[in-house]
Amino acid sequence: MFQLVSLSMKKCFNPKRVLDVGCAKGFMVKAFREQGIAAWGVDVSEYALSTAPEDVRNHLFKVDLNRDALPFSDGYFDCVTFLGTIECLEDYDRILCEIRRVMQPGGGLYVRTTYRTDPEDTIRKNIHSRSYWLKEFRRYGFKFLPTWEGPLANQWSYGTLLFERR
Ligand SMILES: C[S@@+](CC[C@H](N)C(=O)[O-])C[C@H]1O[C@@H](n2cnc3c(N)ncnc32)[C@H](O)[C@@H]1O
Repeated sequence: MFQLVSLSMKKCFNPKRVLDVGCAKGFMVKAFREQGIAAWGVDVSEYALSTAPEDVRNHLFKVDLNRDALPFSDGYFDCVTFLGTIECLEDYDRILCEIRRVMQPGGGLYVRTTYRTDPEDTIRKNIHSRSYWLKEFRRYGFKFLPTWEGPLANQWSYGTLLFERR
């Protein structure tokens, strides 16, 4: 999956610098780096960050997306990937403002989230419909790119959304 997403973002945006938000063990960062694209990742899990492959570990930072600012300057990234994570956050206001801040205008944001609620799932508390997210991302300054659904769109009740940073 990580290879497919990184290849697809490369083809679409030809980025120089990419950030993976909610990077876990850094596999997306690794996939971008293997294609010669400078990539970094952020995640709150010390376990995930400390067990990431050695060649990417130095490019991963501990950040609590509910509270912390991203440790990067304004407009630093051409692209951001954000997979399987927004639904785990208590509040996505801070991170959507932060993602927009660290991105270049015209850059690509790849989002993957689930639309299926599960009453027994205590980790994913922020689950909404596709139309809800389209409205929210527009409100935060991202333009939906409807002609491109990305790899693995709508698989296992997960949806893929691609946006351009305005
Ligand atoms: C379902 S995993 C997805 C990981 C990876 N992006 C993927 O697609 O395989 C969700 C990730 O979000 C991270 N996460 C959850 N809450 C977070 C928070 N408040 N701040 C930073 N990362 C968080 C978790 O540690 C976990 O690595």
